Amino acid sequence: MGERVAVILAAGKGTRMKSDVPKVLHKVAGRAMVDWSVDLARSAGCSRTVVVCSPGQDRLIDYVEATLGPNSIAIQDPPLGTGHAVQAAEEMVGRDGHLVVLYGDTPLIRLEAVEGLFAALEDGAAIGVLGFEAADPGQYGRLIKAADGSLDRIVEAREASADELAVTLCNSGVMAASASDMFGYLSNVTNDNAKGEFYLTDVVGLAHADGRRSAVIECDEADVQGCNDRTQLADTNAAFQVRRRREAMAEGVTLEAPETVYFSYDTELGRDTIVEPNVVFGPGVRIETGATIRAFSHLEGAVVKSGAVIGPYARLRPGADIGEHCRIGNFVEVKNVAMASGAKANHLAYLGDGEVGVGANLGAGTIFCNYDGFNKSRTVVGAGAFVGSNSALIAPVTIGDGAYVGSGSVITDDVDPDALAVARGRQVQKKGWATEFRDSQSKSKSGD
Ligand code: UD1
Ligand code: CA
Repeated sequence: MGERVAVILAAGKGTRMKSDVPKVLHKVAGRAMVDWSVDLARSAGCSRTVVVCSPGQDRLIDYVEATLGPNSIAIQDPPLGTGHAVQAAEEMVGRDGHLVVLYGDTPLIRLEAVEGLFAALEDGAAIGVLGFEAADPGQYGRLIKAADGSLDRIVEAREASADELAVTLCNSGVMAASASDMFGYLSNVTNDNAKGEFYLTDVVGLAHADGRRSAVIECDEADVQGCNDRTQLADTNAAFQVRRRREAMAEGVTLEAPETVYFSYDTELGRDTIVEPNVVFGPGVRIETGATIRAFSHLEGAVVKSGAVIGPYARLRPGADIGEHCRIGNFVEVKNVAMASGAKANHLAYLGDGEVGVGANLGAGTIFCNYDGFNKSRTVVGAGAFVGSNSALIAPVTIGDGAYVGSGSVITDDVDPDALAVARGRQVQKKGWATEFRDSQSKSKSGD
């Protein structure tokens, strides 16, 4: 089989989203919808992806060119239907190789489905169509099969007879064919139909009339959920969460209350990790084996190594790299800090921009003062160091290995290894002062 190319349709207006952001740039589980389709195409072995846009979608065009490079956009001007949209990509795709048509607003299509379509082509099908049994077929195109189970044609709901409308096997819109078949049949598609559009779906009937067989690959309805408005966007995200939670548990992760844990598209969780209720994984999180993520923690762009315990109520921000058996406790925020194994910050701290050595202990209320309003600077805490509670470490600053910092210190200069640094007002004590104060106050009050 020759080169594989993907064509992603995204020229629709997307008005129902009621948004200044192009529809396919809305995110599902932390990733723009169009990028779900781009990633699927790449996983399916497509060496090129062409996104079909309409004129005026400048923001989308800029985004796609920035991520996929030049020669990744075909302009459909004006949009005259899904068949016309695929034709708009013909010049860029050429007639060699095979192509798969994806939508920019249908992010949950599985790789197996696309592989199934390409396999159907290898089996001799002219066109492979991804179909699903719809609970409520509504406006979906209906897949009309011949007695032998092959696909005769696709009928759009508007043109369907009562018998055809009763069919529940529906068209997802995803389709594969050799480029020569696809563009050959498309050149014969007309707009003589209820919508006055050039329907991509007509290529199946044209192939059948040409004596060619087409095949249906079936998937679950949840996988082909499209997003035209904010409710569907939420439903699609929910469908992803259900899928991802099940996968996590199947991979040996304990989710104590699965329905309260939110994943991103790329969340990685190692075996025997335990996730307590109400945890949010933003993009870019990798948890190694046997870690515990306690309740109400929020993680993004972070690595958590084996056996570490995070939370409850912890916040890990991008660049947090939490070593083996570390502990990050309640109301601790970590950003761009590498914690070596066994280091601890158990309560109420901000650790930003720096590194913490093996087994170091950061007391309650430790603050890395990393920002002076203009620049960010680094704080380095050495192995085995002990930072007393409520200390401010003014970066750039280094606390040497094994050093102590007295509670309540404001540390502006480096501390030598194994030294004690105390930087706070010295306590004074005046014996009997309180008694004298109270006596003098009560005398003057009773006098007036
Ligand atoms: C299409 C299918 C229908 C299928 C349904 C699944 C056709 C004729 N019908 O219907 O069988 O059940 O999808 O959701 O294909 N687009 C363009 N240019 C255009 C028109 C559309 O790029 O000129 C893009 C849209 O942005 C969208 C996709 O194609 O991503 C589908 O278009 P839409 O108008 O939603 O198709 P449906 O009428 O829903
Ligand atoms: Ca649609």
